[in-house]
Amino acid sequence: MIAVKDQWQRPFGSVRISVTDRCNLRCNYCMPEAEYQWLPRESLLTFEEITRLTAIFAQLGADKIRLTGGEPLLRRNLEQLVTLLHGVAGVREIALTTNALLLAPVAAMLHQAGVTRFTISLDTLRAERMATFARSNRHADVLAGIAAALASGAGRVKLNSVIVRGYNDDEIVTLTDFALARGIEPRFIEYMDVGGATRWSMQQVVSRDEIIAALVARHGAATPVARDDDPHAPAERIRFADGAVVGIIASTTAPFCRDCDRARLTADGSLLLCLYADSGLDLRTPLRAGATDADLAQLVRSAWQQRSDRGAEVRRGVADRGVLVPLTGLRADPRREMHVRGG
Ligand code: GTP
Ligand code: 5AD
Ligand code: SF4
Repeated sequence: MIAVKDQWQRPFGSVRISVTDRCNLRCNYCMPEAEYQWLPRESLLTFEEITRLTAIFAQLGADKIRLTGGEPLLRRNLEQLVTLLHGVAGVREIALTTNALLLAPVAAMLHQAGVTRFTISLDTLRAERMATFARSNRHADVLAGIAAALASGAGRVKLNSVIVRGYNDDEIVTLTDFALARGIEPRFIEYMDVGGATRWSMQQVVSRDEIIAALVARHGAATPVARDDDPHAPAERIRFADGAVVGIIASTTAPFCRDCDRARLTADGSLLLCLYADSGLDLRTPLRAGATDADLAQLVRSAWQQRSDRGAEVRRGVADRGVLVPLTGLRADPRREMHVRGG
């Protein structure tokens, strides 16, 4: 199969599929508001519709699927979707990004159904911080979810921590210790000025360089690891002198758009070609109007071939960078929200 390439010769390689826009946390960098407008229930793709689209994506080269949300485990019977996706020819990997609140009871079942990797979001080891920053007192459930992911038999488990100055920048070392002690790969994410981050400011961004400096003090000199295994991964992996390996996702200060092979499918069937895109390709309407697989494949192929997005690089060039979409803009078009576009 010849992979479909975009205007910058980037292949269509992976799709982040959001299965719901709802979330059971309210992380300050993602869902800080008191109220949200949810996607209408009837607009959500069914498991069969998602599976059909996934088969088309796989046929065009996207063999890595990541299920996201909102919080994907809020979608009932998610394991049934995983089983369906696992049966799609050409799908090589099914990963899940979750906040793990609901993971403990279902981790083993999800792995059996076909989830090959779990990535868990955890920004603090201090329950009281999670209560103020993410408005949840369920820190213990997250820890139980992490333990269940490790026990499930799935491959590498990763931990994602968004670092925000004045909130958890003093936990870079302890989060790393926590992860490494469990055989988990710690990953630190720069705070991004995406839709939803309505309190974002450059002052709160803890840069890749600062994160590395905090870790050098404890783990010794840093050397970047070659990206041979996955040249399209957003995380840059750093090895420290004592052997510790940590991932850093520097979307804000060192964007990686040139290697981006990712599309995002919203829960209501819009295909976004960039995290920062204004709008997406509506696949739900043709899907429900009786389009054939060949019609749908042609829509996706031609959208990808025309793709020239490099949203994070463009943002880096903006002087006096502020929030990407103000609250009024998000209210007018909730699809611009990070929790709708799949994190
Ligand atoms: P693997 O490398 O397969 O483990 O997955 P991943 O890092 O793509 O997925 P994950 O859900 O762990 O994403 C980690 C962070 O990277 C999230 O905060 C994402 O928002 C960010 N990220 C993922 N894709 C993109 C992208 O296309 N552009 C930008 N700027 N950030 C992204
Ligand atoms: N900046 C960086 N990462 C973000 N995420 C959500 N909003 C932001 C933001 N403003 C991350 C979550 C999760 C992933 C799916 O997206 O922390 O790890
Ligand atoms: Fe937090 Fe993800 Fe939910 Fe946003 S969608 S509030 S980042 S768990």
